[in-house]
Amino acid sequence: MPVPVIVDCDPGHDDVFALWLAAGHPSLDLLAVTTVGGNVPLEHTSRNARIALTIAAVAGVPVAAGAAGPIARKLETAESIHGENGLGGPDLPEPAEPLDDRSATDLIAQTVLGSPEPVAIIATGPITNIAIALRDRPELLGRIREIVWMGGSTERGNWTPYAEFNAWVDPEALALVVGSGIRFTMVGLNVTHQALVTGAVRERLAAIGNATARFGDELLEFFCRTNEEVFGMPDGPLHDPVAVAVLADPGCLELTHTRLDIELAGTETVGATSVDLGGVLRREPNAWVAAGLDVERFWTGLADAVARLA
Ligand code: BDR
Ligand code: CA
Repeated sequence: MPVPVIVDCDPGHDDVFALWLAAGHPSLDLLAVTTVGGNVPLEHTSRNARIALTIAAVAGVPVAAGAAGPIARKLETAESIHGENGLGGPDLPEPAEPLDDRSATDLIAQTVLGSPEPVAIIATGPITNIAIALRDRPELLGRIREIVWMGGSTERGNWTPYAEFNAWVDPEALALVVGSGIRFTMVGLNVTHQALVTGAVRERLAAIGNATARFGDELLEFFCRTNEEVFGMPDGPLHDPVAVAVLADPGCLELTHTRLDIELAGTETVGATSVDLGGVLRREPNAWVAAGLDVERFWTGLADAVARLA
């Protein structure tokens, strides 16, 4: 039985590949998509998520807009990486389907409560929508199978020296979700920086030759260029689909059960994810944290998923 999933995202180049992996992998059943302001403002992420599904000819998956910004801070965006519209590079088509008229919270609640199997949530942006849904709909607490989130790091950050972008944008939401008691897995930069879009990876994906792969190649060209300009990484790290791989192909990642705390009040360290790998704090483990990635297996899973799409 495929795992039923909701993807909550802020597309964003790598979010698009996360959606494609979730839609194209036979181990997952993509039930719904929700969007959040993150890489770019909410109007763009909501349109871009629908464009990602349109390109891949994925029909019948509702896309609902959620929070325009974090629960307690002003939204900071990442146009330097993703471009003004969030999907710099290709010409963007009109989305085939309209935005769902429900809020992200309502779509999440109705999807989770209406499913005979426990639904997992994969979040690939600031985790604001999930925090709001758990805060406003406590009946969801016992009903969500697990939450897997791309963000944070066991090491240093990418948006500040200590904070990864998704964690830095909405650390209060992250602390709320981690503290909810729902199984939580963090897929951070320490593993996503291994999922590098090398020339060989680009050739392999482009060789699939379908419309999804062609659009994806244009996205990757832009994404690798901006990652080189901003981070000095010409082989851009394709962060978000790595979180999807945790559920699509669990053998692809090594997870460790440990203590995760979120820095909310530091002067230079807000959004840092404090991962107590050595157990020195003697606190109860409260999260699973990705510690290793089978890189070849990851790209094979992603390429196979893209090949299954239009
Ligand atoms: C994360 O930040 C965003 O720019 C990407 O989409 C990814 O979710 C990486 O730090
Ligand atoms: Ca993202």
